[in-house]
Amino acid sequence: MCGIVGYIGTKQEAAPLLLEGLTRLEHRGYDSAGVAVLAPSGVRVAKRAGRVRDLQEALPKRFAGKVGIGHTRWATHGPATDANAHPHTDAKGDVAVVHNGIIDNAAALRAELTDAGVDLLSDTDTEVLAHLVGRSEGATLEAKVAEALTRVDGTYGLAVLHADFPDRIVVARNGSPLIIGVGDKEMHVASDLAALVRYTTTVAHLEDGEIATVTASGFTTYRADLTHAPRTATELDVDPAAYDVADAGGEGGHMWREMFEQPAAAERVLRGRLDERFGTAHLGGLNMDARETRAIRRVKVLGCGSAYYVGQMGASLIEELARIPADAEAASEFRYRDPVIEPDTLYVAVSQSGETIDTLLAVQEIRRKGGRVVGLVNVVGSAIAREVDGGIYLHAGPEVAVASTKALTTMFLGFSLLALQLGRVRDLSVADGKRIVTALQALPEHVEEVLALSDELVEVAEQLAAADSLFFVGRVRGFPVAREGAQKFKEITYRHAEAYQTSELKHGPLALISPAVPTVAVVPHDELTDRNVGALHEIAARGGPLVVVTHADVDLGDVPCRRIDVPRSERELDPILLTLPLQLLAFHAATHLGLDVDKPRNLAKSVTVE
Ligand code: AGP
Repeated sequence: MCGIVGYIGTKQEAAPLLLEGLTRLEHRGYDSAGVAVLAPSGVRVAKRAGRVRDLQEALPKRFAGKVGIGHTRWATHGPATDANAHPHTDAKGDVAVVHNGIIDNAAALRAELTDAGVDLLSDTDTEVLAHLVGRSEGATLEAKVAEALTRVDGTYGLAVLHADFPDRIVVARNGSPLIIGVGDKEMHVASDLAALVRYTTTVAHLEDGEIATVTASGFTTYRADLTHAPRTATELDVDPAAYDVADAGGEGGHMWREMFEQPAAAERVLRGRLDERFGTAHLGGLNMDARETRAIRRVKVLGCGSAYYVGQMGASLIEELARIPADAEAASEFRYRDPVIEPDTLYVAVSQSGETIDTLLAVQEIRRKGGRVVGLVNVVGSAIAREVDGGIYLHAGPEVAVASTKALTTMFLGFSLLALQLGRVRDLSVADGKRIVTALQALPEHVEEVLALSDELVEVAEQLAAADSLFFVGRVRGFPVAREGAQKFKEITYRHAEAYQTSELKHGPLALISPAVPTVAVVPHDELTDRNVGALHEIAARGGPLVVVTHADVDLGDVPCRRIDVPRSERELDPILLTLPLQLLAFHAATHLGLDVDKPRNLAKSVTVE
């Protein structure tokens, strides 16, 4: 949430680069935006509630300076107003700070500053940082920042400018990502690779507890006590052109483009990882040999939001194919129940961004207690990817839309590969392994077939959009599909969409079924089809409108419904194909309602605050 950019150089003006970087980061937070530059006259700040384009329009004509920082905000303390937008300054206006994260003791520090006669101009936690830096007696900017940080509890990625130290930006990190990009006589800082990848792919990731000085010619990293913590920049193996495509969005926007990138993303995550001969998968990045793999007694998947729901699909896959007890849990709850960490459990952290703080903290908790964690992560070099013992990169390409689509499909396929590899070192037969390999090879084409249903789904999506409240139901493999369907629908249409196990309806929620409350039911061809059809009758008998996502060979009898048939894969892989129409329904419903599908209200792409 919130995005940070910074630039220092000798050749270029900072402001245009900062604005461009902010545009690339706007999916992180889009409540407000701001920039500060070091002009000959001192620190100059421009900030605005609203989108980056509003800031761009409001920027003074002369806003020169070759050093600057910028921010796009997702509100935590105080509403989205000009005053609460970052950068924040100290009383003299010499210091400018941009900050991601949350200062937990902000209230106490605000009270202390007010008692000392400081006028606070915003409701934010960040403003205290600017004042603490400004009031510090430290002789260098690094010393001032380090001293200020000793006063704060909480998480931060931050960048600081000071009029008295015009040759540098000082940055710091604790729980919120901060990347330094190395250019030719110029340097960039950002919370996210997307903001600087156009200029350089030579980067250094700051670690928690570190501070760095960034000048036009290089950077130096320190521990919190300002002793040197040598860190070198490395060349990342990423394609900057992929980020250009992501920036463009295109007609229909990012979510639309990303949904239709799913066949290609599916091919990429599978490429070179399937072994037809032995009916297995090769995942070298897991860093586990066959003996270690055989020793696993349980699998626990951790993720948040949609990654958690796909984690549930993944846990079922592992249980079915590898016959290892497996379950998924919301990473945001995990560490607060003081979990018992077992040495023979394989923990799997799943995250598109690799920066989700709840998932990262769960990983750290497991590692602190001696557990083994592997990651299913999309963003190369992200915090979770660097923290885990091994993992599978998802190769979905940059995902910009807040509503995750192609990353989730690659997560599912990542789980399929993991389940296959775990299964084949245990009891999964070669024949069953080959059955899954063949089905995985065919999957990108099946994904394409489901996406081709898009036009047909517009009308039914519009009908669903007319309801204030909807149910999404499914059983066993179909239940996480229903959860993910409800999630997509609610986050971009703002309709109340609730997921339930179909089997649980008559234990309570059936009371809500009426002609005004549609149900989207997931009914695959499997051992539960007949029971599912029975539940459809019960809904129909109460006048509930029904949309059924199913397979062509499922006989729904005379249940009045709008059916959506998806191609059949192997039953273990069906969940992902059943999920895709639900993405399309949510997209068409939100578009029909005239909503900004890519930037849903109150949300942000990467959730980097607890
Ligand atoms: C997906 O549509 C959501 N916006 C959200 O639930 C997301 O999946 C979740 O925040 C986890 O993000 P991550 O994959 O980057 O960890």
